[in-house]
Amino acid sequence: MSKYKTQEEAEAAGVYVRKVQSFVKREGRLTKGQEAAINQYWPTMGLEYQKTPFDLEAEFGRKAPVVLEIGFGMGKSLVEMAKAEPEKDFIGIEVHTPGVGACLMAAEEEDVKNLRVIEHDAVQILNDSIADASLARVQLYFPDPWHKKRHHKRRIVQPEFVQLLRNKLTINGLFHMATDWENYAEHMLEVMQVAEGYINTAEDNKFVPRPEFRPLTKFEQRGHRLGHGVWDLIYKRQS
Ligand SMILES: C[S@@+](CC[C@H](N)C(=O)[O-])C[C@H]1O[C@@H](n2cnc3c(N)ncnc32)[C@H](O)[C@@H]1O
Repeated sequence: MSKYKTQEEAEAAGVYVRKVQSFVKREGRLTKGQEAAINQYWPTMGLEYQKTPFDLEAEFGRKAPVVLEIGFGMGKSLVEMAKAEPEKDFIGIEVHTPGVGACLMAAEEEDVKNLRVIEHDAVQILNDSIADASLARVQLYFPDPWHKKRHHKRRIVQPEFVQLLRNKLTINGLFHMATDWENYAEHMLEVMQVAEGYINTAEDNKFVPRPEFRPLTKFEQRGHRLGHGVWDLIYKRQS
């Protein structure tokens, strides 16, 4: 990039710049069930990346608040949440194919209709395929913590990313994060406290108690027993 001061300048000049990504694509094997679920349910529940915003009203066949989850893992809590709030429409994004298969399987088992699944980089989806001011809530639960200091730049929560999200949220829309890694919780707080256009909804201006609507996972229950912490942060788009 040497000749160019910023990534935008380089891209404008047609130079390909490899961006830092928040994930490393693992080619995990699919179980038979996951593979069958993808073959069977992708046509109805899958959404492909597109360069222009999705028409979500047409996709869900109604006008309802839209909740977007980034990095849903195996999708268990996402499916549970979609089932618990049938008046909202849910979109889940994940790059790990077995997770996509597992999520489709769970959605079918639970007979959840208000959920669409995307297998793609969430940053690119937000940039290209999600309309501005269209999301009522964005959830980011237990994002990869990238423990080592030299990897911190891979953490998805960065000033540029949270401004991208802000544009996609409606005014008063919520950005909900949860992590079990204290250093990442502090990093989230640092980035968000100076992020333009957001207010922290926590009474102490830091963390909120785990809201009822976020399911308590097995992993988290175990963590609680072992005395590990979990930090929830909820910010509201103010402007
Ligand atoms: C530590 S896991 C947590 C999964 C799940 N939220 C949970 O609580 O069990 C983080 C997940 O985020 C996914 N991920 C990371 N960066 C992503 C991105 N840019 N777009 C989509 N998924 C991403 C990873 O593939 C991984 O499955």
